[in-house]
Amino acid sequence: MARETFYITTPIYYVNDLPHIGHIYTTVVADTIARYKRMRGFDVRFLTGTDEHGQKMERSARARGVEPKALADEVVRRYHELWRQLEITNDDFIRTTDTRHHAGVHALIARMQAKGDIYKGSYEGWYCSGCEAFFPETQLVDGKCPDQGHPVELLKEESYFFRLSAYQEPLLAFYREHPEFIRPGTRYNEVVRFVEGGLKDLSISRATITWGIPWPGDREHVVYVWLDALTNYVSALGFGSAEQGLYEHYWPAALHLVGKDILRFHCVYWPAFLMSAGLPLPRQVFGHGWWLRDERKMSKSLGNVVRPDTLLERFGADALRYFMLREMTFGSDASFSDEGFLARYNADLANGLGNAASRVLAMVRRYCDGRTPAEACDDSALRAKAEQVVGRWRETMDAFEFHRALEAVWELLAAVDAYVNEKAPWGIAKAEGASSPRLQHVLYNCLESLRLVAVMVSPVMPAMSARLLAQLGEAADAQSLEWGGLGTGQALGPEGALFPRADVEAFFSEVKMDENKPVQSPAPAAPSAPAPTPAPAAQLVAAEPIGIDEFARVKLVVGTVKLAERVPKSKKLIRLEVDLGEGAPRQIVGGIGDRYQPEQLVGRQIVVVANLKPAVLMGVESRGMLLAASLDGAPFLLAPDGEVPPGTGVK
Ligand code: MSP
Repeated sequence: MARETFYITTPIYYVNDLPHIGHIYTTVVADTIARYKRMRGFDVRFLTGTDEHGQKMERSARARGVEPKALADEVVRRYHELWRQLEITNDDFIRTTDTRHHAGVHALIARMQAKGDIYKGSYEGWYCSGCEAFFPETQLVDGKCPDQGHPVELLKEESYFFRLSAYQEPLLAFYREHPEFIRPGTRYNEVVRFVEGGLKDLSISRATITWGIPWPGDREHVVYVWLDALTNYVSALGFGSAEQGLYEHYWPAALHLVGKDILRFHCVYWPAFLMSAGLPLPRQVFGHGWWLRDERKMSKSLGNVVRPDTLLERFGADALRYFMLREMTFGSDASFSDEGFLARYNADLANGLGNAASRVLAMVRRYCDGRTPAEACDDSALRAKAEQVVGRWRETMDAFEFHRALEAVWELLAAVDAYVNEKAPWGIAKAEGASSPRLQHVLYNCLESLRLVAVMVSPVMPAMSARLLAQLGEAADAQSLEWGGLGTGQALGPEGALFPRADVEAFFSEVKMDENKPVQSPAPAAPSAPAPTPAPAAQLVAAEPIGIDEFARVKLVVGTVKLAERVPKSKKLIRLEVDLGEGAPRQIVGGIGDRYQPEQLVGRQIVVVANLKPAVLMGVESRGMLLAASLDGAPFLLAPDGEVPPGTGVK
């Protein structure tokens, strides 16, 4: 029998900036669902990609002195790298600059035209390039865009229009017949109210920008970026091309996963376009909440984003994925903080999961010769608890209540701990010897519970799940959720802490160090200097222009490294004694230990900011800062082109 298909999509991300936690969240949730559905036997297709056209992108690229495509290529490279690091299992990655996508957009427009839903007119009104959306004057809030408070500008241009107004009733009827189309329920009500308030025809072309898909048959216009972008969900399946097999197999989508800010585009415009084109509508749109910082949406325009690099580098993809799914009630907003992350990391992962596993495995090594007990045991309260947890986990995963699913799993871990305390295997070993069947049964029950935990967390923490399964002597992709699946008499795999405890203090002092470095961002070159060849976007560093006087206040000098050693307990920090020609050497602490060994540094000349206020890093005072180019977080030390006396100034 053919398996049921499950086509899941993320929004396609704008490429005018590097990804942040908000973008990661949508993709990690989609990946978790995709992995879960695969486990449950669905024929899954998982799509993500990038939204590369539009006014915002055109302007960002122009401000940086680069071509939009060059900026897009650079950011797309970063997305690919990030999805690889986060173990995202997308089957395809669509870019709206792909030729296959253009074909899909033109095919969709042709069908809407054939239906008589597109006409030419003149648009006059307010446009928010932040949201790439039109707003009637009555909806503006303090003269700004009502959705996110971005500035708006008055547009007056010739435009093609889509008869959105004709779809008000059909949309309302569709929502009534398919209440599951929009989730969660509160968002369903918002959308219905919005549509009941009346729909105006929608401008779907732009004549004053050029960075977009040309309007079919009219070179003066490009396609409005949201019509362009939404079509990705079908163009990626080959809609509009000669090869439509995937489209026929997977469309309509089972789930479009989006943030609540872009619900209207997905629940109003997109179904109306599809109705006009005579194509089936997606089965569900889920609008999740926002990650907030200081109670505001984290966004590039507000400048309050959390970049994933530091957390990913130090704690790995699994920990970040776990935090996101455990901390946020799917559908609601949540606050992101490093403190919150570290607290959960230590409490749930290092202590809860890590300790339970190492405690049980150590006993099996000790009392059972490092093999799973030879005999399974059926009757225990732990088994009943495990089966109840598996049931709850399934229900809550099916309902996309990830935090509750994880809560259930952690209840099982707590039950394992309580069971160990109650049964006291060490006591049994003492009284009855290590070969006691009772001891073997107790340990089997604990191991089997851990196996179930490993399988249940696999959609969220795939790498950790594989590691734990390997430690239990199981295949890394074991998936059975039936009690008793653990092989008997099999050798345990390699030892090792699943999540080493984080040193919170060390983390914060190292992060402070990193904050002193410039943020890597695909950002502006001097706007007044038009580059004959576009500069590679990643090398451009965000900076406001400063005067020469301001620069002169920074005292840069060359120093010779006399001594270098690692700061204890720190992965990155190295303590240097540097001769700056002042008599006694200066102590400077640098976060360069990832790339340099201390012995490589002695005798080397470096460039130092000599008049920086002293700072204490992991208990060591630093009286200056060394300069290094930073490539994807890796330091490359700067040095003069030939040896100069220590203390020579740099300008
Ligand atoms: N390009 C459009 C989507 C087109 S889909 C046909 C877009 N891109 S975006 O890059 O701005 O945002 C993509 C997704 O990231 C959205 O779902 C948005 O809600 C999500 N997030 C951006 N910031 C966020 C938070 N601070 N928190 C959670 N998710 C948020 O919109």
